[in-house]
Amino acid sequence: MINGTRLNERIEKLATIGKDENGGVSRFSYTGTEKEANELVQQWMEEAGLTVQEDAVGNIIGSLEGTEDLPVIVLGSHIDTVPNGGKYDGALGVLTAIEVAHSLKDHGKRLKHPIKIISFKDEEGTRFGFGMIGSRAIAGTLTENDLEHEDDNGVTIKQAIQNFGLEERPLSTAVLENIKLYLEVHIEQGKILESNEVSVGNVTGIAGPLWLQFTLKGLAEHAGTTPMNQRQDALAGASVIISEIENIAKQTDSTVATVGKLSVKPNGVNVIPEEVQWTVDLRDINEAKRDAVEKNIRQFANREAQKRNLDLTITELQRIAPVPCDETIQQVIKESIDEISQRKIISLPSGAGHDAMQFRNVAPVGMIFVRSKDGISHNPKEFSSESDIEESGRVLYSTLLKVDQQ
Ligand code: HGY
Ligand code: MN
Ligand code: MN
Repeated sequence: MINGTRLNERIEKLATIGKDENGGVSRFSYTGTEKEANELVQQWMEEAGLTVQEDAVGNIIGSLEGTEDLPVIVLGSHIDTVPNGGKYDGALGVLTAIEVAHSLKDHGKRLKHPIKIISFKDEEGTRFGFGMIGSRAIAGTLTENDLEHEDDNGVTIKQAIQNFGLEERPLSTAVLENIKLYLEVHIEQGKILESNEVSVGNVTGIAGPLWLQFTLKGLAEHAGTTPMNQRQDALAGASVIISEIENIAKQTDSTVATVGKLSVKPNGVNVIPEEVQWTVDLRDINEAKRDAVEKNIRQFANREAQKRNLDLTITELQRIAPVPCDETIQQVIKESIDEISQRKIISLPSGAGHDAMQFRNVAPVGMIFVRSKDGISHNPKEFSSESDIEESGRVLYSTLLKVDQQ
């Protein structure tokens, strides 16, 4: 059905590009490392019989004509990573989709529907604090204003696109229309499949990520001469707010909150911190619950800043609503798992965000999860077994053949 050896070898090969000194993979958008990875993905797409193009924002798109003039089936995921990430997050989805196309070619099979396999640009948002650039462009939700997000060196997405050598084209040229459905294979990045001792699972929905940036300003003064009751210490204030962020989320049964990035200025041993900046990542499959946590955090933070005579600014970096997966596609995925896996069928929500979310208003989406060892991800220890990966490819292949008949 599919060539598991070829798929797993490609995962290992791709993982060598951007391998960093801590044993993980660091591949950020619009960099030389990513360009090298794109060239390898493009080569594999061509070997699978796909016609490859790069769009206005740098998505790598492999196309295969169908035997009939029908809406296009889109498969994909991303090959960019978080800092010092794992080798499967995103890459597995792109390479499994290419493997399915390659296997169709090996078997001389042509689908009725045209297919597009997309390696989406910058799903993680690592470089600009704004993610899913590629899938937003394809879905037509990316705006010129979005391209003004800057990286830590003040380079905007727009400048990065130009520096990457992409010809200047309107964002509208990247929009894909007439999509039948979108399917994505991705590692679970959690422990549910492993605890149920199954290799693959059907995704019911995707939690919505809300990213905020907090900037707290006080006054830099001498650490030795400033009495404790006369300080505007931005870091002392931030630490109280950040620990309360954790408490607020802990009081719910489903919302998760993460402070992932933090910077201190002027960052001197003997200087009272003047400015602290940090990010907050809030997620929940239930949007109202997530937004209630956001409201409580904002209220506490503003009160605490006022109490300490600090100036607080909260900037929204991205807000994505949770997305349900299509019931019909879920049914097909479950049938394929049943045929191939013969183990119990686990359906589960995704706590992680995915490119699939950007298709919410343009096409029904379905996702297939692959078991993650110990649920670890965004970490070099991220691992999925070769047999689980092969099984996910077979489930995708079977699902694709079925939806092609619908
Ligand atoms: O942040 C996420 O959930 C995904 O890894 N981009
Ligand atoms: Mn990720
Ligand atoms: Mn991912």
